[in-house]
Parts: sequence; structure tokens; C-alpha cells
Amino acid sequence: MKQFLIAALLLISSLIVYSQDITINLPAPVKTGGKPLMEALSDRQSNRNYTGKELDQQTLSNLLWAAHGFNRPDKRTSATSQNKQEMSVYVVMKDRAYLYDAKENKLKLQVSDNNLTASLGQPNISEKAALTLVYVADMSIASNREAGFIDTGAITQNVYLYCASAGLGCVTRASFKRPDLHNILKLKSNEEITVVQAVGHI
Ligand SMILES: Cc1cc2nc3c(=O)[nH]c(=O)nc-3n(C[C@H](O)[C@H](O)[C@H](O)COP(=O)(O)O)c2cc1C
Repeated sequence: MKQFLIAALLLISSLIVYSQDITINLPAPVKTGGKPLMEALSDRQSNRNYTGKELDQQTLSNLLWAAHGFNRPDKRTSATSQNKQEMSVYVVMKDRAYLYDAKENKLKLQVSDNNLTASLGQPNISEKAALTLVYVADMSIASNREAGFIDTGAITQNVYLYCASAGLGCVTRASFKRPDLHNILKLKSNEEITVVQAVGHI
């Protein structure tokens, strides 16, 4: 009986750990503070040298909200052509890729794959960044293909400005291994990775 109870407890605790891993519940984003806009614009720049330190969950939540969160019931911090809302933001941390659910303020694990970081290219950047954001446009929803790329630009600029405001570094990158990353993320043919963006402590 005692052995059965120990086994049951171990099973329950491993299930709790597993469910925490597949969904990261983010704290509510802090929408006040930071540098004034003109100072953030003055500091905006690409950084390629990161310390390797992870982001704490509050910073992660703030970053993602700034990037593509909801600032009105159905509209976001970034503009989207004809309000098509075709963009998704994936967050790659080490060998895991999560999908940002802005409504729920959660990260949902999509894949765990040892080849993820290699598929991001530029290893000197992607191995030291705290995370890499992967922008995916659903081209079957977008007004047209160009709109998917233009809408991505709005998100990447939000991230640049948040990072400048928070003292973090980031860089938008078009040099990644497009087919490899597409396959690893199990994306459909109508989904296109526009660019990726490394973020980290500098
Ligand atoms: C669409 C796009 C793609 C980019 N691709 C890369 C890239 O693959 N690798 C990289 O190191 N930087 C990349 N960059 C960053 C640019 O090199 C950088 O913005 C430029 O040198 C100007 O520097 P700044 O951002 O500090 O003003 C890219 C920027 C944009 C907007």
C-alpha cells in the first residue's frame, strides 16, 4: 500500500511538472514605465552579442505584449493590413518552440526538437540569445503576401522599441534555415516564416 501511494505521488508530481512545461502561464504585462518614446527611438539598434542569460517571466510577458499583444478587446499593439490578423509569434527557447497566445497570455509548447537552434542560423547570435521570436504569416488569411511582411515589420519595430526601453538587445534576421525551421515547427504550406528576431541581455 505504501509503495502504491509513493508511486501515485511520483506520477502526480511528474504530471504537474509536465503540464507546467507544455503551458507557460505568463504574469500580466506591465503597461507602464520604461523609457519615454523619444529616448527609446534614440537607443533603438540591432545587437548581436548576448550574455546567454534567460529573460524572467515578467520581462517575457512585457516583451510579447509589446510585440503582438491586445491593447483593445480585438486589436493589438501592432497594425495589420485590413485587420486580417494573420500573424503568429513563436518563441524559441533552447530546444523548445512555444506559440504565444495573446488572449490567454500564455505560451503553448508546440515542439521540442534538438535541431531547433541550428535551424535558426547565425549560431553566434542564436546560441547566446535568451530567445528567438519567429514570425509566421498565414498567407491564406493575409490581404496579400506583401502585407504579411509589412505587418511583420510593425511587430519587429515594437520589439526593437521595447528592447531599447528595457535595456535589452535584439536583431531582426532574415538569415535562418527556412525549410528546416518550417518543418521543425510543423507549419502548413499556407504558413510562411517572414523573419526571426533574436532577443537577449547585452
Ligand atoms: C528585414 C531585415 C532582415 C535582417 N536580416 C539580418 C540578418 O539576417 N542578420 C543580421 O545580423 N542582421 C539582420 N538585419 C539587421 C540589419 O543588418 C540592421 O538593421 C542594419 O544593419 C542596421 O542596423 P541597426 O538595426 O542597428 O540600425 C536585418 C534587418 C531587417 C530589417
